[in-house]
Amino acid sequence: MAFFNIPFRAYLRRAFLLPLFAFSMLLTPNLHAAEPSPDSVVKFRKALMGEIKSSLQSLFLLLKQEVDDDKSIALQAQILALSSQRVGASFVYRTRGVAEETTAHERVWTEAKDFQAQMQKFAKDTQAFAELVASSEANADAHAAMRKTLAKSLAGIGKQCKSCHDRYRTE
Ligand code: HEC
Repeated sequence: MAFFNIPFRAYLRRAFLLPLFAFSMLLTPNLHAAEPSPDSVVKFRKALMGEIKSSLQSLFLLLKQEVDDDKSIALQAQILALSSQRVGASFVYRTRGVAEETTAHERVWTEAKDFQAQMQKFAKDTQAFAELVASSEANADAHAAMRKTLAKSLAGIGKQCKSCHDRYRTE
């Protein structure tokens, strides 16, 4: 067996050097840590938009009581708010004209200020929605009325999807 062919001292040296090497790798800053490729950034933002879409759909089902699962309302509201906060940052200039399939319109770059302002409003409103949900949890008596208020607020958020997509997507 190969193990027994190695002289004991050489074996010890190896046994000692390997963890040392591994440890030094941990301490060395990763000089080759490249920025994520523009294609990956586009894939990621599409995945986030997908999450935004599913959480919105789940919330509508829950609020219309087509599903009986109150605990999920707060969870889905959090997912919607957190994904909405993160998605704006992935519309970076270096993703302009990438190979990865994208429906981002040229205007995302030529009207970047307005686009990002809409993103910020979207993030703020989804956050406010999540807070409204959290406060309504403590108010169980007003449950039915609260559901209506929440559904109305969510419909307002749904309108923002469409108005942004109309201007900033190619389809
Ligand atoms: C401020 C602008 C803006 C808002 C608000 C917005 N989106 Fe988007 N969304 C975009 C852009 C731009 C794209 C295109 C991304 C790409 O293809 O690179 C997109 C893409 C998508 C996609 C397609 C993802 C894919 O796989 O190609 C879905 C689904 C989506 N959005 C859902 C939503 C929903 C649902 C909402 C509202 C709850 C929403 N978006 C709010 C700008 C917005």
